[in-house]
Amino acid sequence: MGISNCFQDFIAGPWISLIGAGIVCWLSFSAMTYVMGILETKKIIRKKQEDREAQFKKLESQSRYQLNEKHEKILSLSDDELIDQLQSRKLTAVEVQEAFIAKSIKVTREFNMVTEFIPQAEEWAKELDAMKGSLRGPLHGFPISVKDNCNVIGMDSTIGLGKFLYQPAEDSSAIVKSLMALGAIPFAKTNVPQTLLSFGCANPVFGLTKNFLNSSLSPGGSSGGESSLIAAGGSRLGIGSDIGGSVRIPAHFTGIAGFKVTKGRFCGTGFRGSLPNVVGIMGVPGLLADNINMIAKTTKYMTENNLQTKYDPLAVPIPWNEQMFSKKKLKIGYFTSLPYFPLVGDTEEIVLKAKSALESQGHTLVPFEMPDSFEMMNLVFDFCFGDAGEYLLKNWRHEPIPLSVVVNFMICKSPMWMRKVIVLIMGCKWMPLVHSSRAVTIIGRGANSTSKLWERLGDRKKMTEDLLTSWKAANLDLVLCPTYPFPAVPHHMPGRLQPSVFYTMIWNLFDFPAGVIKWGTESGEKVDKYDCQNDMVLRTGKQGAKQATGMPISVQIVGLPFQEELVLRGLAELEAVSPYKKK
Ligand SMILES: *[C@@H]1O[C@H](CO)[C@@H](O)[C@H](O)[C@H]1NC(C)=O
Ligand SMILES: *[C@@H]1O[C@H](CO)[C@@H](O)[C@H](O)[C@H]1NC(C)=O
Repeated sequence: MGISNCFQDFIAGPWISLIGAGIVCWLSFSAMTYVMGILETKKIIRKKQEDREAQFKKLESQSRYQLNEKHEKILSLSDDELIDQLQSRKLTAVEVQEAFIAKSIKVTREFNMVTEFIPQAEEWAKELDAMKGSLRGPLHGFPISVKDNCNVIGMDSTIGLGKFLYQPAEDSSAIVKSLMALGAIPFAKTNVPQTLLSFGCANPVFGLTKNFLNSSLSPGGSSGGESSLIAAGGSRLGIGSDIGGSVRIPAHFTGIAGFKVTKGRFCGTGFRGSLPNVVGIMGVPGLLADNINMIAKTTKYMTENNLQTKYDPLAVPIPWNEQMFSKKKLKIGYFTSLPYFPLVGDTEEIVLKAKSALESQGHTLVPFEMPDSFEMMNLVFDFCFGDAGEYLLKNWRHEPIPLSVVVNFMICKSPMWMRKVIVLIMGCKWMPLVHSSRAVTIIGRGANSTSKLWERLGDRKKMTEDLLTSWKAANLDLVLCPTYPFPAVPHHMPGRLQPSVFYTMIWNLFDFPAGVIKWGTESGEKVDKYDCQNDMVLRTGKQGAKQATGMPISVQIVGLPFQEELVLRGLAELEAVSPYKKK
C-alpha cells in the first residue's frame, strides 16, 4: 500500500462518513422543521376558517341579515339617492348597513368576496344614528368595503398568509380614518391573492374569489374581493391598493370603475404591502365603485380641506381643484397596442371607440408615442426583483403555496445560475412551447446590487423625464390607452400571465394617476386571428381570451402626476355618454 493510498483512506474513511452523516442530519432536520412549520401554519389557518364560518353562520341566523324586501329597496337606490336619504335621515345608518351585509353575505356564499365582516361596524352605525340634528359628514352612514391589506382597527390584515393571522391592527389606516371622518362606515374586509402579487384572487386562508359575472373566471387581483363584491351590488365603494394594476385590473375584469392616485395624493399609511420597501415602483391606495361619479365625489371629499393630513402628515397637501375638474375642452393623447403585449380580440377597437366618443364631445385626440415597451418592463422587474425575491421568500416561509403564485415562488426559489439557464432556454426562438420574450423580462431580472439599482433608478428618471417632455410638447391633458390586453381569464391562468399587467404597471413605474371604466364587451370574433409570435405567454393570453366572450373591456385614462382631477374629468366625460352608465 503506497503512502498516497494510506492518506486517501484516512481522508475518505471517517471524515467522509462524518461529513456525510452531518449533511444527512442537517437535511432531515431542515425537512422536519419545514414540515412542522407548515403544519403549524395550517393549524392557525384552520382556526381562522372555523372562526370565519362561525361569524357567517351567526349573521345568517339573524333575520335582519336575511335579504328581504326592505333591503332590496335600499339596494336598488343609486349612490346619490342613498347619500341623500342618509343625509336627510330618511334612512338610518343601521338600516343601510344591514341591507349591505345581508347582500354581501349572500353573494359571498357563492362567490367568496368577503373575508370577514367588521364586528365594530354596527356600533359605528348606531353612533351616527344617535347624532341628533347633525351629520358626521357628506358620506354619513355610507357603507364601504375594505381590501384585506388595508388596516381596520381590530381586524387582521393577512395578505393570505398564515403568519399574519390573529394579529389585529391596533389602529385603522389613515385612509379608513379619513373616510370615517366623512361619515363612511367600513363593514367588511375582502379577499386578495396570497402576497397580493397576482391578478388572480386565491389564498390558502380564505380560498378562491370568483367573478360575479362568471364564476369560472377570475375577478382580477389583487383587489379581487372588492371588484366582485361591488359588481354584485354588495358594496358601493371599496378601498383597494395598486402596485401594478391591483385596483384597475379587477375593475376591468368585473366591468366596474377603478382609480389609483399619484403616490401621496391618498394617504398610504396603514397598509400591508406586497413589496413594502421596493423602490422605483409606486404602490398606492385606490378606490373602486360601480361608477366614476362616486369615485370623483369621494376623492373630492378626501382631498378638500386637506382632511387626510390630520391622519397622515405624509399625505401630499394638495386640496381638490374644482377648476381642473371642470375643464371643458381636453387635449388627449392616445395609444393602443404596444409590442410588449399586443392587444387581443376587441380590446383595440374598444379603445378606438372611446377615442371617437371623446371626439364627438368636442375633445381633441392625437396619437401619442410611448417609450420602448420592453425596456419599460425590464425596469419594472429590475425593481420588483431588486432583492432577488428574498423578501417574498421570507413571507412564504412555512406557508402553503397556492397555484396562482407558484410561478413567482419558483422564480424566487431558484438560484441565480438556474434562472440564467431558464432565461437562455426560454429566450431561444427555436425552443418550441417554452419560448417567451416576455417571460424572460421577469425571470432574468433584478437590480440586485446597490450600484445596479442606482443605475436603473437613473434610467427610470430619464425615461420619465422624456415622457413628460413629449407629453408637454404635445400639450396634452390626458392619455387614453388600454387597461389590459384581454378580458377576465379563468382562475388557473393569472399565475402564468404576469407580463399582461403591462398596460397598468407602467403607470406605477412612472407614478402617474390613472383610472378605468367599462367601454365594451368581448365578442370573441377576432381572438382566433391573434398572432402569438410563437411566445408562450401570448399563447396563454389568447387561450384565456377565448374563454372570455361576453366579458367587459375597459379603457384607461392617465394624467400627469397630481392631476387626479383631470383624470376624473376625462373618465366622467366618457361616463356621461356611456351605454353602460349606472343610474
Ligand atoms: C445579481 O444579478 C447578476 C446579473 O443578473 C447576477 O450575475 C448575479 O449573480 C446576481 N447576484 C446575486 C447575489 O444574486
Ligand atoms: C363562463 O365562462 C366559461 C369559460 O369561458 C364559459 O364556458 C361559460 O359559457 C361562461 N358562462 C356564461 C354564463 O357566460
